[in-house]
Amino acid sequence: MPELVLLRTARQLLKEHDFDGPKLREAIPYITKFQGKKIVLKIGGSVLDDLSQIPALIDDVAFLKRLGIRVILVHGGAKQLSRRMEEVGLKPQSINGLRVTTAEVLELAAEVFTGISDLIGGELKKHGVRYHRFGREDVLVRSTRMDPALGLGFVGNPVAVDVTKLDDLDEELVPIVSAVTGSVDGDATCFNVNADDVAGAIAEAIPAEKLILMTDVKGVLDENGTLLSTLTFSQTEAMIASGVIAGGMIPKVRTCLDALEAGVTKCHIILGGAHSFMDEILTDRGVGTEFVADVSGG
Ligand SMILES: Nc1ncnc2c1ncn2[C@@H]1O[C@H](COP(=O)(O)OP(=O)(O)OP(=O)(O)O)[C@@H](O)[C@H]1O
Ligand SMILES: [Mg+2]
Repeated sequence: MPELVLLRTARQLLKEHDFDGPKLREAIPYITKFQGKKIVLKIGGSVLDDLSQIPALIDDVAFLKRLGIRVILVHGGAKQLSRRMEEVGLKPQSINGLRVTTAEVLELAAEVFTGISDLIGGELKKHGVRYHRFGREDVLVRSTRMDPALGLGFVGNPVAVDVTKLDDLDEELVPIVSAVTGSVDGDATCFNVNADDVAGAIAEAIPAEKLILMTDVKGVLDENGTLLSTLTFSQTEAMIASGVIAGGMIPKVRTCLDALEAGVTKCHIILGGAHSFMDEILTDRGVGTEFVADVSGG
């Protein structure tokens, strides 16, 4: 998009979103900076559980798309899958935060995640934005099986991303990626993967300008529940060791640190909804927790 057209479009769109006056001046340089760049946004299943969050969130994605910022959506669905399993009489089980995935559970996961992709895509369509689903039927990410001795079944580690599929995709389509991945051996086996890891693998392979993991908390919280706006590698490791960072937050922080090391410029964990995505990208203050390299020598 030529710069003048872009700026005119941006001004108009930002005003529609109450980005006026000083906020508008603040946003313009970010729009120029990110135009044509790729941002990977992982939407936690925890965010999607509250349906009232979805319109504001998808409104932001559609808005950034219209400004020429390329957003790749990845989503989880842990709670939704657990509920579906219970409905059919299966008991959700996990080992060290990873879901035990039998062939039956994998089948349900593929079904539930496709439904979630379509829920997100349906909301995009309301904004006139089309989408393309990557998952079991169109494999973008391939994994290796985790050590069978762990007893996890069809759970994998993402190791390869077919970036050409993203490059070849019609620019008008927003990619929506779910966490059922293919096998690196090229056979028909599929693996269930933590969606944070899938998002990280994609961001690293591109490499993306930003990786944003959106969840149901404001960011990483300290032992008093206070938000930490920036975290270094060593601070994060210390918080995992002391147990302050636990459960579903562990794969998230590890994904951010790995992605930073692999060349993704910025990695953030933010709260879902309430236009937090747009605020994170287009304002100076940002929201949530940002990961930064350790200061050398310190
Ligand atoms: N130090 C911490 N700061 C913030 N949250 C933490 C911390 N330690 C553990 N958590 C937990 O991590 C949770 C977020 O991870 P969780 O896996 O539940 O959500 P998600 O990844 O967004 O959803 P899904 O796994 O379905 O994609 C928070 O709701 C919180 O309970
Ligand atoms: Mg999670």
